[in-house]
Amino acid sequence: MSQQLLSLDFLDTPATPAEHQPSGEVRVSPATRTGRQRKLYIESYGCQMNFSDSEIVSSILFEEGFDTTEDLAVADLVLLNTCSIREKAEQTVRMRLSQINGHKKRNPGLLVGVLGCMAERLKTKFLEEEKIVDLVVGPDAYRDLPRLIKEVDGGQKAVNVLLSREETYADITPVRLNSNGVSAFVSIMRGCDNMCSFCVVPFTRGRERSRDAHSIVQECRDLVAAGYKEVTLLGQNVDSYKWASEDEQEHVNFAQLLERVALISPELRVRFSTSHPKDITDEVLYTMARHENICKYIHLPAQSGNSRILKLMNRTYDRPWYEERVQAIRRILGTECAISTDMISGFCSETEEEHQDTLSLMEYVQYDMAYMFFYSERPGTLAARKLEDDIPLEIKKRRLQEVIDLQQKSSRLRNQLAIGKVHKVLVENVSKRSAEHLSGRNSQNQVVVFPKGDFKKGDYVHVLVHDCTASTLIGEAVAVS
Ligand code: SAH
Ligand code: SF4
Ligand code: F3S
Repeated sequence: MSQQLLSLDFLDTPATPAEHQPSGEVRVSPATRTGRQRKLYIESYGCQMNFSDSEIVSSILFEEGFDTTEDLAVADLVLLNTCSIREKAEQTVRMRLSQINGHKKRNPGLLVGVLGCMAERLKTKFLEEEKIVDLVVGPDAYRDLPRLIKEVDGGQKAVNVLLSREETYADITPVRLNSNGVSAFVSIMRGCDNMCSFCVVPFTRGRERSRDAHSIVQECRDLVAAGYKEVTLLGQNVDSYKWASEDEQEHVNFAQLLERVALISPELRVRFSTSHPKDITDEVLYTMARHENICKYIHLPAQSGNSRILKLMNRTYDRPWYEERVQAIRRILGTECAISTDMISGFCSETEEEHQDTLSLMEYVQYDMAYMFFYSERPGTLAARKLEDDIPLEIKKRRLQEVIDLQQKSSRLRNQLAIGKVHKVLVENVSKRSAEHLSGRNSQNQVVVFPKGDFKKGDYVHVLVHDCTASTLIGEAVAVS
């Protein structure tokens, strides 16, 4: 199945978008054609957790007689799976709702629902503020969708925004809508207990809970049996994964889960995201070192390079801690391991020197990649209640630009270091620019493009890289003995 990506031009769009990030990307789930009576059009915003949840929602509604469609004009039900992470993300959804209003005027029978983080944050207020919305459903209430849709069919408005301490949708097999048939996302935990002061996620996603380790391993096995070659284990904070069987006889932490998944097949690549610097242990790093098929790439968001700001952000680590974790990665996995980050510019009371500390941390780590944002105050968060959003927008933007410029240098340097070396690439797609080229990623998550030859999607190919652009490595296949 093809996937349709519509790119939105966001001010705070990161330099290099990736799968798991709130990147300003919108995804329209591709069509399923199984002759179901009703048509669901589902559009997802925000992070990979949302994209993954949309697959769960599609699976639930598939059982209820809905096929998905890519064409809004033929839909009976439109669902927007929304993001609240920054103000801009919410504005985008509001704009989209007003466009959908036009469709509803032409097709009064069209039902409109809002899912995800914005639904959870605004609750019934959504119905008051946006008259077009019939249905508001939070991230832990998707099993209730069939009942809620019946209410809406009966002419009522319907809302369920109850958060749960248990729900992990462990038993629901997602309809793989976002997938290229090679790489799939597997959600291993939900929610977040960290309460970073800037962040809305703990309010929209509820308490942290880990999914049954056996159901995760089984889902990965099923993916291997279906021909998949890569899984990405997903959670807001995967390193705090912690599961115990009901009789408390079996305890599994993240390093152990990672190992269980890696052992399914040497042909299966394993990735994970996101790692919180306070939780990533040497045990995880040694597990990565032991298994060739665990990709050598760690997304380790720093947010700031200054200890005072980190304290205000309630990140629970300081700069020396973060630097020590980077040294541990270098000690255990060497320079071969790629590291990326998220950075926020212009957080409350950030001085010019503190901003310089962020730049100096970036110089220190030499990140392979970064997602960079300026601070956007979110209602209800600790920062919104206790701190003043006192950095003028122009200064936030100027600091962000400095962060972006520095990162571009560092990414370019990283790409140049890849030249002249042979990389093991898992082929994911035909290149967007040329049908004669294939595209895939190396273990470090760098995109590599090379002439097609006789290779196809899902193959592992050794590629000698001879050139690069800002975001892509270019090379050709070589034989390895
Ligand atoms: N759980 C992940 C982050 C998920 S949100 C972690 O802790 O690393 C993704 C990123 O959005 C964050 O890392 C942060 O850089 C950014 N972000 C979150 N809230 C923000 C806000 N209020 N303003 C600007 N950026 C924000
Ligand atoms: Fe938000 Fe912090 Fe949780 Fe990440 S760890 S989702 S930034 S509260
Ligand atoms: Fe993800 Fe946005 Fe929610 S980043 S968890 S969809 S607020």
